[in-house]
Amino acid sequence: MSKVLKTALPSGFASRMVQWQQTHGRHGLPWQGTRDPYRVWLSEIMLQQTQVSTVLDYYPRFLQHFPTVQALAQASQDAVLGLWSGLGYYSRARNLHRCAQDVVARFAGVFPSDPHDLQSLPGIGRSTAAAIAAFCFGQRAAILDGNVKRVLTRVLAYDADLSVGANERALWDVAEQLLPRRDLLHSMPRYTQALMDLGATVCLPRRTDCLLCPVHDLCAGREQGDPLKFPVKTRKIKRSSESWWLLQITNPQGQVWLERRPEHGIWASLYSLPMLSRPEDVAPLIPADQARVDAPAFVHVLTHKDLHLHAVRVEWTRRESPSAGSHGSWMSHSQWQSLGLPAPIRALLEKA
Ligand code: ADE
Repeated sequence: MSKVLKTALPSGFASRMVQWQQTHGRHGLPWQGTRDPYRVWLSEIMLQQTQVSTVLDYYPRFLQHFPTVQALAQASQDAVLGLWSGLGYYSRARNLHRCAQDVVARFAGVFPSDPHDLQSLPGIGRSTAAAIAAFCFGQRAAILDGNVKRVLTRVLAYDADLSVGANERALWDVAEQLLPRRDLLHSMPRYTQALMDLGATVCLPRRTDCLLCPVHDLCAGREQGDPLKFPVKTRKIKRSSESWWLLQITNPQGQVWLERRPEHGIWASLYSLPMLSRPEDVAPLIPADQARVDAPAFVHVLTHKDLHLHAVRVEWTRRESPSAGSHGSWMSHSQWQSLGLPAPIRALLEKA
């Protein structure tokens, strides 16, 4: 039995959140003035691991290129990855593309309104399905992303380890019980946005503005004196690191040798410089008469991993193509600019 179920649920929680959102929440974000599931879905996927300020830049550009789910479904994967380039977490973009194709093939191009149907689509988890269903269709479905976990564990002073499945399920149950019950078409979008907004502006990971919180007097975490204690952090993810040598081969025309990454593994399906995991594999790929300069290594931080990247610059004057990255090709600045490139590779090329 989990602890949270023993705590009485705070009454009036949903209506206070709804009212607070109306006056103090965020308004006017480009994905807020619509109930079009295509637009809402796109924003939710982009916002998953990316800040609002970054998404504000990418979202309109993406919609301009792909104004409908049909247009996105018909696009090439390269075009989708190109527009995603710089947002990171590229599996999101690949799933986005597959999801659009699925909506067209399985749902005649119309996003379903049922959260279970939404969750059957690629890249849409339980929380994202609920967000779409709540925002677009007023469905009584609970979201529980990182921000919302923080808000709810604090309000409930829920100190159980959320990496344990049963504890997380108990929090999902409470999240569902707390949902509004009346006037759902109006209240569900507001309530859902309120949870997101409170987590993003008031109930922050390392700071709380409890005086600005509409539910501060219902908050058991605050009453206990230390809301920052929640959610309780347990099982730390172990970080790892790896090193890659990147062959930055350019020719006298100013083109660079790029290849497409395999479908699996790091930077799957993106274009990149030829990459080698062992330094001793570099020299055999560079003929002795070609100038080589080793740039200082730099670190690129991923979620679970630090990448130590070593750029090896080679000025290629030979007639034959480099043997590194045998499926590669020479690309001019204007060609590689519109490709899906990992952020650190793009930065290297921009600097050259
Ligand atoms: N993060 C995830 N979804 C969001 C939304 N709809 N508005 C602002 N931030 C978000």
